[in-house]
Amino acid sequence: MGKAIDFKENVLSVPDDPVIPVIPGDGIGPDIWSAAQPVLDAAVARAYGGKRRIEWLPVAAGETAYNATGELLPQATVDAIRKYRIAIKGPLTTPVGKGFRSVNVQLRRTFDLYACIRPVRHFPCVPSPVKDPDSVDMVVFRENTEDLYAGIEWDKDTPEVKKVMDLIKELTGTELRPDSAIGIKPISETGSKRLVRSAIRYAIAHKRPSVTLVHKGNIMKFTEGGFRRWGYEVAAEEFGDVTITAADVRKNGGVVPDGRIVIQDCITDAMFQQVLLHPADYSVLALPNLNGDYISDALAAQVGGLGMAPGSNIGDGYAIFEATHGTAPDIAGTGKANPGSLILSGALLLDHLGWGEAAELVRAGVTNAVSAKIVTTDLARQMTGATEVSCSAFGKAVCDMM
Ligand code: NAI
Repeated sequence: MGKAIDFKENVLSVPDDPVIPVIPGDGIGPDIWSAAQPVLDAAVARAYGGKRRIEWLPVAAGETAYNATGELLPQATVDAIRKYRIAIKGPLTTPVGKGFRSVNVQLRRTFDLYACIRPVRHFPCVPSPVKDPDSVDMVVFRENTEDLYAGIEWDKDTPEVKKVMDLIKELTGTELRPDSAIGIKPISETGSKRLVRSAIRYAIAHKRPSVTLVHKGNIMKFTEGGFRRWGYEVAAEEFGDVTITAADVRKNGGVVPDGRIVIQDCITDAMFQQVLLHPADYSVLALPNLNGDYISDALAAQVGGLGMAPGSNIGDGYAIFEATHGTAPDIAGTGKANPGSLILSGALLLDHLGWGEAAELVRAGVTNAVSAKIVTTDLARQMTGATEVSCSAFGKAVCDMM
């Protein structure tokens, strides 16, 4: 029997045989999980010679769970994640229709997974729309709980929107168009600081050169401007001995003192240009929710699409790792799905456990398989001279080549 991961005084304590709940998911979910699990097990076995192993605990959510239990997110699944703290999931269907809340959103809220983390790098030979995808190596920290995604909106012509308009007129003198809908954009010091704190901790742990605060504070001075200001504050107050601002680097003749992480900021629209024109200048990005949503997908496209992009949602003491694409119902069960995103999400999970050696083996296996042009249909059809293999055969190639 495996053991539960513990979390005390902000530190995870990981046994050598942790139990990790798995939601294989809907559509291609079971296909890609069947390919990914042997890869993760092989990497752990190879890295630690049998001293460590993961006990995967299958749990249900999404359409599969709904059909079996009438619930999209059964309580037993929530309880298992609460007990074991770290989970991995495939994509989930949100049935179309009123009254169905996204399971992904429910999981994020239930476990207060406030940072959506997406590393973006290019794997050799993966087709990309840009000239030099290899210079992209960024990790996006997107705030996951507030901003325009907090869900506070009023439709036009409702009594609520009328009240809000009256209040706005009273407070600011501004009269809005009477046929407006209104949404609220809350950005807090607490939410911003904990997100930037986790980005800086990541930069320290992974020896990254910089953290860039990406914001639209020139226009939204208190919300996005606040995000920027609180980001610099948390860097100075809590990490002053290991960080330096870009302004201080300039004062220092452009020299970054040894071991210091540069904290800089960039206006969001300029950032979209910068990641295309000068990607090598950026390493860890920290962003409010909406900007983070946009840039995560844009960056994934820059290195060849969501099929290979891993993701994670992290809170204090809880984390869920996930494939970033959907359930691809058009190819479910055909063996055509690319399991790359879930396999690489598994590598992030291994990193999170502190099992970096195994994580590196997984990434090496993927890099070697893709460099040898052994790929699934989605990539094969964009490459010349590729060997097209099934979902499970790609997993096997990754195991063989790690
Ligand atoms: P999708 O990502 O499932 O599919 C878009 C296109 O990409 C399709 O042509 C599909 O075949 C292809 N594709 C996606 N993943 C692939 C993979 N691993 N290998 C090869 N080809 C792949 O997006 P769509 O069609 O918008 O959504 C389908 C369902 O997935 C919906 O129910 C949606 O709610 C759900 N979804 C779930 C997500 C999650 O659980 N994180 C994220 C996005 C969508």
